Amino acid sequence: MMHLKATNRAPEDSMDDIFDQEFLADAMAGLQAQPKALSPKYFYDARGSHFFDLICKLDEYYPYRTEMTLLPEVAKELAGFLPDKICCVEFGAGSLHKIRPLLQHCDAIHGFIPIDISHDHLKTAGDKLAEAFPHLSVVPKAGDFTQPIALVSDSAELSNSDVLSLPRLGFFPGSTIGNFTPQEAIRFLKNARKTLGSQSYFLLGVDTQQDREALHNAYNDQEGVTADFNKNILLRMNRELKANFDLDTFTHEARFNESESRIEMHLVSRSAQEIRIAGEVIKFSQGESIHTENSYKYTPERIIALVESAGWQVVHRWTPADGSFSEVLLVPATDSGA
Ligand code: AVI
Repeated sequence: MMHLKATNRAPEDSMDDIFDQEFLADAMAGLQAQPKALSPKYFYDARGSHFFDLICKLDEYYPYRTEMTLLPEVAKELAGFLPDKICCVEFGAGSLHKIRPLLQHCDAIHGFIPIDISHDHLKTAGDKLAEAFPHLSVVPKAGDFTQPIALVSDSAELSNSDVLSLPRLGFFPGSTIGNFTPQEAIRFLKNARKTLGSQSYFLLGVDTQQDREALHNAYNDQEGVTADFNKNILLRMNRELKANFDLDTFTHEARFNESESRIEMHLVSRSAQEIRIAGEVIKFSQGESIHTENSYKYTPERIIALVESAGWQVVHRWTPADGSFSEVLLVPATDSGA
């Protein structure tokens, strides 16, 4: 059942539709706010994840390509900073592509705990990984990786595994941290520190691109894949929340916000219009946008300030010659009780 205010309800809408309550509540709050905004987490249904995979293959989208080139180099030098045996904990692990170069080139990793929302998906990807790296103990953990996670308590599989006694290396590649506001990023890094413990390490991939043209092209690609990815959120609302967005009446726009140092993705209404969603009417004026994503771009100095606010310190940074991406190795700050 829907739980919405009765205002603006169109009479023909049924009250009996079953919707994902969290998606519905977030979408309604976001579309009724000024300015309108939606959370980028709603991009990633099966279709949205497929578009994101296509984005990663685009020439213009430098972050994926650059990080995948950088990671083998990082992995070769990483062992020099780590104890002989370590357990890697990947946050928001997804399809487990980025851990492979680390495993291929860093023998210190003996255990691997990928954390993500879907246990089934993780289990399948984890089984494949364990086949390719037989010395590795892979123990998937389902959960919200942005929160502190007790790696021991609720999983018999984990409790019985000797990987838990090893020191931990957190891994958060892809500059997903850039999709958090700085406040959210600090909260995430503090929570990760709790999950990993005080004797830990953290390898973080961060987008450090400063070239405005490269940034514009990466988020406004010629083929329009990023536009399809962005508009998928409208399609999802049509399908899952009985909305009636006409996708052709919205334009994808990605703009660099200088003062916040972030790419913002928007969906801009081409005309004044009214749309219906779960029985509510939402009005758009011509040119009004829905802000769908932030992607923060950090300078090396800002990375240091960010991680230090969360009780970590940078011990090493790897970056390609063009400076467009950085892999930073962190340890808990010595004077921090965070
Ligand atoms: C997942 N995340 C790091 C991507 C980014 O670059 O912010 C998502 C993305 N949005 C548009 N293109 C890619």
